Amino acid sequence: MPTQAIDEQLIPYRARIESYLDQVLPASDTVPEILHEALRYSTLKAGKRLRASLVYMTGEMYSAGLDQLDAPAAAVELIHAYSLVHDDLPCMDDDDLRRGKPSCHRAYDEATAMLVGDALQSLAFELLASVGQAICPVLCNILARASGSLGMVGGQALDLQAADKVTDLAHLQQIHSMKTGALIEAAVLMGAHTAGITDSRHLQLLSDYASALGLGFQIHDDILDVISDTATLGKQTGADEANAKATYPGLIGLKASKQAANDAFQQADQALAQLPMDTQKLEMLADYAINRIY
Ligand code: IPE
Ligand code: IPE
Ligand code: MG
Ligand code: MG
Ligand code: MG
Repeated sequence: MPTQAIDEQLIPYRARIESYLDQVLPASDTVPEILHEALRYSTLKAGKRLRASLVYMTGEMYSAGLDQLDAPAAAVELIHAYSLVHDDLPCMDDDDLRRGKPSCHRAYDEATAMLVGDALQSLAFELLASVGQAICPVLCNILARASGSLGMVGGQALDLQAADKVTDLAHLQQIHSMKTGALIEAAVLMGAHTAGITDSRHLQLLSDYASALGLGFQIHDDILDVISDTATLGKQTGADEANAKATYPGLIGLKASKQAANDAFQQADQALAQLPMDTQKLEMLADYAINRIY
């Protein structure tokens, strides 16, 4: 499916998460005003909302109501937004542009950007704490593990250590799966658990789908840094090479990277094919992950 057509299918989910996030983020005139303004600046009116869409689409596939899925969808987007704010800091990737505008520490300052990340993370778990009693600890556990030192934060640590040093693909795949795949997997699993799914075969196949999608998504992110332009992407291109980042194109070249992204897509698709329900929407998102233009 052309990515433009997929983008159109995502519009209702994007509108829904935007309005929910707008409600749960404190207003800009709440003390401390600058912090709240910066929180809203870094979270609202931008982003593809892939992770929220994964929560909604997986949950809907198992007949959960969209209103049940709002809190987990927002929680994973908030953790993701926090990861981007910190990822751009001078002590990490030192990026001045994010989502088509100055990154948080450029629009405000470094201390504010650090605190924005901290506050977004707390708000994510505050939202999860408000969901139904039985499911609450399960969702908190999934998101906490995916965010922490065994997931996104661990992957970011490996990413920083890896600059100029990664020579083997297994190591690079581990970095990508942790820094990006973990949250994407959490989104899918939270959608399923919110719908009451406990069947271990279903959960395993969903997890296989999501980890393949997550890897493909980050490989494609690496590719876009090479082949796209800053205006389309909304972030500085060529930044990975400038920072000697460990990336797929850097390690195996563009052509093999595209093949690796495609292989990841096929793997995601194979997992879906083993589920008994209509998985068309999730398939579409896997396609989007490796064919999107931004
Ligand atoms: C960017 O993620 C960071 C990565 C994990 C590659 P997205 O490309 O999903 O960023 P937004 O939310 O659409 O801005
Ligand atoms: C980021 O990977 C992964 C995160 C956990 C934020 P990148 O550093 O490649 O993401 P971009 O390209 O800055 O969005
Ligand atoms: Mg980074
Ligand atoms: Mg970065
Ligand atoms: Mg990148």
